[in-house]
Amino acid sequence: MNRKYRKTVIAGNWKMNMLASEVKPFIEQLKAELPKTRACEVVLCTPAVMIPAMIKAGKEAKVAAGGQDVSKFEKGAYTGEISASQLADIGAKYCIVGHSERRQYHGEDDMLVNAKARALLAKGIQPIICVGESLEQREADLTMEYVAYQVKAALSGIDAAQLRKCVIAYEPIWAIGTGKTATSAQAQEVCEGIRAVIRKLYGARPARAVSILYGGSMNAKNAAELLAQPDIDGGLIGGASLKPVDFAAIVAASNQE
Ligand code: PGA
Repeated sequence: MNRKYRKTVIAGNWKMNMLASEVKPFIEQLKAELPKTRACEVVLCTPAVMIPAMIKAGKEAKVAAGGQDVSKFEKGAYTGEISASQLADIGAKYCIVGHSERRQYHGEDDMLVNAKARALLAKGIQPIICVGESLEQREADLTMEYVAYQVKAALSGIDAAQLRKCVIAYEPIWAIGTGKTATSAQAQEVCEGIRAVIRKLYGARPARAVSILYGGSMNAKNAAELLAQPDIDGGLIGGASLKPVDFAAIVAASNQE
């Protein structure tokens, strides 16, 4: 982390878990566990149907609400989709785009991820743009080339002012939901590489200001070491964000100097 230049973000990704009726009790428990002062932004990205409940319950606990996906289209005949204006209208502050599960199960490619990020930015929602390599790519020593491409594609057509609203999440696919965390050195190496790509595209100042999160089996035990890395500015947390005690411990770990 480097709080002098950029904000720390601890974002939970509930995926397709929990119920709207469980949001309030969850937040009450989380609030009781959270450190009294904190140096990060806390976000929970929930299924869209729970966002209103999250906003209501999260207000006092200072937990922001985010979505997990958005349509690239503004409006119209796209049954089942949710637009950026609709997310903005109910008060979502963030939205994940390009999560590897969307890429894998819904065939999302890099240009679609780019279109979604732009759709969000146009409506004032901060995209959390996910990138990350597969195990095969890592073993073939293609990690940085691949991730660099994903970052470039996702940011295509996004200007420096809009970049300030973007958060990048580096999530190696092999570490997601597997209990296998990247070592802090592996995670730092790629996050540093991502910042270098952004520096080439936008220059030193914008690159210094962008928050880059790590995701993939981050938990209460390994968070402090990962967050101590200079280019890791927070976490995108799946499994451990479903447990108030664990999620609060990760927030507490981000309080370190
Ligand atoms: P995990 O998920 O923490 O359960 O590995 C992270 C993510 O998919 O964002």
